[in-house]
Amino acid sequence: MARTIAFSNQKGGVGKTTTCVNLAAALAGMGKKTLVVDFDPQANASSSLGVFDKNEKGSIYSVLCEDLDINDAIVPSEEDGLFFIPSSSDVAGAELELSQIVIGRERVLEEKLEELKGEFDFVFVDCPPSLGLLTVNALTASDGVIIPIQCEFFALEGLTQMMNTIRLVKKHLNSSIEIEGVVLTMYDARAKLTKGVLDEITKFFKDKVFESKIPRNIRLAEAPSYGKNIFAYDRRCAGANAYIALAKEFLNKID
Ligand SMILES: Nc1ncnc2c1ncn2[C@@H]1O[C@H](COP(=O)(O)OP(=O)(O)OP(=O)(O)O)[C@@H](O)[C@H]1O
Ligand SMILES: [Mg+2]
Repeated sequence: MARTIAFSNQKGGVGKTTTCVNLAAALAGMGKKTLVVDFDPQANASSSLGVFDKNEKGSIYSVLCEDLDINDAIVPSEEDGLFFIPSSSDVAGAELELSQIVIGRERVLEEKLEELKGEFDFVFVDCPPSLGLLTVNALTASDGVIIPIQCEFFALEGLTQMMNTIRLVKKHLNSSIEIEGVVLTMYDARAKLTKGVLDEITKFFKDKVFESKIPRNIRLAEAPSYGKNIFAYDRRCAGANAYIALAKEFLNKID
């Protein structure tokens, strides 16, 4: 059975997509077959993996709302062992359509993932920056959640709300969900602010904070514009090394 992980933080632009895509690519490079489900109408994970326009096979929208077989929505990426299900802007409408389902609206993704035929080691769900029904579906379908946090002054803002959502999902919908870990992104050890923010985050999340931090690295920001994960774009840069280290730590942690 695949281990399903949601990448979530209601705050925008903190590195959810960058971490989801590149951790998945690092794991694929280590022989772990991984599926990225782009669950954000912004479709940034899809473009980072090479699908800029509407995917002809249909997006996660068609899986959720039009009964497209989830297995038929899977697209291979450039990286061996890394597959994805693209998103598109109409996924924004999926949130509304899901909300009109009377019973089980929080479990639609979970049920679709159960129909996966391929043998994946990991399924990574890239969530939108909100705590709406899409994120609740992702959390309900997942064994764990990884929370990327940008090391900046307002880093912890809104996290109480997010922790509350995770707690409610755990109580009512998915008792087995755990916080898999917190990843610090766009990390700059030299910045004055960093130590204070890191201390605060560590106080809040304790041993959930991954040792491996992702540095601010221009290559990580450039790669998506070429539709490439960091290993396809520049496998020797600091960003690529950081995601390799994170992948190793992640594998050790879940063993
Ligand atoms: N370590 C990094 N170094 C430099 N730039 C980064 C790094 N991580 C992410 N970025 C850039 O920061 C921006 C936000 O990152 P990303 O899209 O991963 O965040 P997000 O949390 O998924 O955003 P959203 O909430 O909109 O989905 C992007 O332009 C991305 O390329
Ligand atoms: Mg994103």
